Amino acid sequence: MAPLFLSFTFLLFLLSTKSSSQSTNLDPNQLKALRSLSVPTGKDPCSPLHNSTICDSSTPFHHLISLKLINCSTDVTLSQSSLKTLSTLQDLQFINCPVSPVHFPSELSSSLQSFTCINSLKKLTSVWLIQLRNVVSLTVSHVPVSASGPSIILNSIKNLQSVTISHANLKGVVPTKWHMNLTYVDLSGNQLKGKIPSSLTELENLLHLNLSSNSLNGTIPNSFGNLLSLRNVSLASNALSGSIPKSISAISGLVHLDLGSNQLNGTVPKFISDMKGLKYLNLERNNFEGVLPFNASFIKKLVVFKVGENSNLCYNHSTLSSKLKLGIAACDKHGLPVSPPPPKEDFSDDTAEDDTPPPKHEHGPSRVVFGVAIGLSSIVFLIILLVLLSKCCK
Ligand SMILES: *[C@@H]1O[C@H](CO)[C@@H](O)[C@H](O)[C@H]1NC(C)=O
Ligand SMILES: *[C@@H]1O[C@H](CO)[C@@H](O)[C@H](O)[C@H]1NC(C)=O
Ligand SMILES: *[C@@H]1O[C@H](CO)[C@@H](O)[C@H](O)[C@H]1NC(C)=O
Ligand SMILES: *[C@@H]1O[C@H](CO)[C@@H](O)[C@H](O)[C@H]1NC(C)=O
Ligand SMILES: *[C@@H]1O[C@H](CO)[C@@H](O)[C@H](O)[C@H]1NC(C)=O
Ligand SMILES: *[C@@H]1O[C@H](CO)[C@@H](O)[C@H](O)[C@H]1NC(C)=O
Ligand SMILES: *[C@@H]1O[C@H](CO)[C@@H](O)[C@H](O)[C@H]1NC(C)=O
Ligand SMILES: *[C@@H]1O[C@H](CO)[C@@H](O)[C@H](O)[C@H]1NC(C)=O
Ligand SMILES: *[C@@H]1O[C@H](CO)[C@@H](O)[C@H](O)[C@H]1NC(C)=O
Repeated sequence: MAPLFLSFTFLLFLLSTKSSSQSTNLDPNQLKALRSLSVPTGKDPCSPLHNSTICDSSTPFHHLISLKLINCSTDVTLSQSSLKTLSTLQDLQFINCPVSPVHFPSELSSSLQSFTCINSLKKLTSVWLIQLRNVVSLTVSHVPVSASGPSIILNSIKNLQSVTISHANLKGVVPTKWHMNLTYVDLSGNQLKGKIPSSLTELENLLHLNLSSNSLNGTIPNSFGNLLSLRNVSLASNALSGSIPKSISAISGLVHLDLGSNQLNGTVPKFISDMKGLKYLNLERNNFEGVLPFNASFIKKLVVFKVGENSNLCYNHSTLSSKLKLGIAACDKHGLPVSPPPPKEDFSDDTAEDDTPPPKHEHGPSRVVFGVAIGLSSIVFLIILLVLLSKCCK
């Protein structure tokens, strides 16, 4: 009896280990941690087909180095023990994961090189973020972050090369001290105030700068052109004033320049049209004045060009066609916008010889409705009449 029982339990044991290890060489504790986070483990988490996890190739068990939690359910909770088990992770991403943040075990926070939190973890603080002391890449977006400003975060994480803290209700000012290794900075969609510090322009490795949709004021620093590596920049939707600094002409690789929705003034500089790589140029909604210095071949080369809503800016109609629909007035012979500003082009030609107003389409539907109403009520009236008639004549 006993041997039979033993062999039976052994068989069960074999079966159970088979079913959990046949598919993966992942460290069993990490597999358990993944399950506690509701990550589907039906497919081998270490298979290249599993697109939310990446494993290393250590033996006998592989370890997780990257984990992406997307669209997780609200009942997932982060436990210290499962997070500690996961401290081989170098990359951790939360995307649409409304779980409550917990302080990470220090094994995990010191292991992470890349951290992403988009619309996840409810809300974060600077104290929480700076525990990620070794990250090279930090992305936090659409999550409220309470902090006295971005400086405390940027100065505490020494190895940062890429930082995004956007749409995070972040208050304070743009930092004045920066790590020289930064290549990517996105602080867009916050409540940052004050000027753009000229120390920012010392970041000679910076490829991408986005400070759009804040409350920055003052002028664009004259040294802006020291950002020689810059390719994409947006300073849009702030309250910047003054003119576009001449030094920008030195940034030879600039592809994307967005200065829209500010209070910039002066003339639009002609040197912009000599920037060979430019594909996107937005100068709309500012206070630029004078004659737009661009020719049609430059404008057509751009993928996006916006210059509308600059009421003192105009274009030379002998060099640029009104068909370009620039959203600014043509210039008179003194280089001033012809008054009144942009004519409503659609009406200028085709209604000229005929004074009778064109059939008004917007009245069509209401006429139809009126007709249907009349039709319906006459039918109802007829039915009532028939019923009455049939009653009275019985
Ligand atoms: C992962 O791959 C599956 C198909 O293998 C796909 O349906 C799913 O959208 C992918 N998820 C991500 C985040 O790419
Ligand atoms: C997550 O949810 C969004 C919106 O509901 C959906 O578009 C997306 O495909 C989902 N992604 C994954 C990997 O399930
Ligand atoms: C900057 O990056 C280089 C190489 O990528 C590295 O050697 C150096 O330590 C980094 N410096 C800082 C201050 O992080
Ligand atoms: C910029 O805004 C601050 C308040 O945030 C104000 O004190 C300062 O005068 C403004 N500077 C300029 C140049 O408008
Ligand atoms: C800057 O950020 C805004 C909002 O976050 C985004 O819409 C825009 O495309 C970004 N611009 C650049 C140049 O990255
Ligand atoms: C940089 O700008 C170009 C042109 O507008 C755009 O296609 C590209 O996606 C931008 N890159 C980033 C990282 O925003
Ligand atoms: C631009 O505006 C500033 C005030 O914001 C003013 O001092 C300056 O004279 C203006 N420049 C031009 C060229 O109109
Ligand atoms: C248009 O302007 C660009 C840049 O200033 C210049 O290189 C080019 O020769 C001009 N083209 C014509 C047809 O004038
Ligand atoms: C418009 O261009 C023509 C031809 O290049 C030039 O003669 C004229 O002075 C320009 N007008 C203005 C207002 O700049």
